[in-house]
Amino acid sequence: MRERRRGHAEITTVAKGTHMRSPSVLLLASLTMTGATLAQTPQTSAPATPAPATTTAPEAQAASATPVPKPAPVGTMSELMLRVIYPYSDAMFYIQREPPKNDVEWNELQGKALALAEFGNLMMMPGRARDQDQWLRDAKLLAEAGAAALRFAKAKDLEGIVGLNEQLVTSCTSCHMHYRPNYGRRRGQAPTQK
Ligand code: HEC
Repeated sequence: MRERRRGHAEITTVAKGTHMRSPSVLLLASLTMTGATLAQTPQTSAPATPAPATTTAPEAQAASATPVPKPAPVGTMSELMLRVIYPYSDAMFYIQREPPKNDVEWNELQGKALALAEFGNLMMMPGRARDQDQWLRDAKLLAEAGAAALRFAKAKDLEGIVGLNEQLVTSCTSCHMHYRPNYGRRRGQAPTQK
């Protein structure tokens, strides 16, 4: 069983220069995105008669008059990391530096935790998942850490969030060890000093 190395070369240079941070805009974008994705999946009403599973080839389906929309990736993996996962996980890793002081700030943190959780899900999506094994485990770890962080943020439990650091960082490093090109040769992943 040989590891496939697909997709590694694609993106490294994208978006390097512009490390701008605008969490609230991002947050909106990401929540809208995940919301839209989620809304599509389970809602379709149950068909009166079960449709035959595979009658048409994908090409034929795409060409049909009213194609059903499917989720389609917008950002590269590198962009997901740099624009969302990296800054939002930093908000968890470094929460003790500036703990949330009021409801507004706790709500903001909830949004970041939620985005981490849902981006974990997003990375498990067909077309994004790079295999059906380790990748899914690492993405799931991120999703679970994000979900736990959301629960703690709702409870305004600072120590709870601090306690998630190890799980969170494990999701980053495990996936990076397996899938990130040249991992270990440069610093810049997970908690870097600022
Ligand atoms: C399920 C897999 C997976 C998880 C989980 C994951 N990453 Fe990544 N990450 C990648 C891959 C793949 C790349 C390489 C992207 C590329 O360059 O194509 C990457 C690249 C990065 C980069 C470099 C992006 C660039 O282009 O310079 C950063 C920063 C990063 N990840 C941060 C994180 C942090 C922080 C976490 C955990 C909170 C995390 N990642 C969790 C898969 C993952």
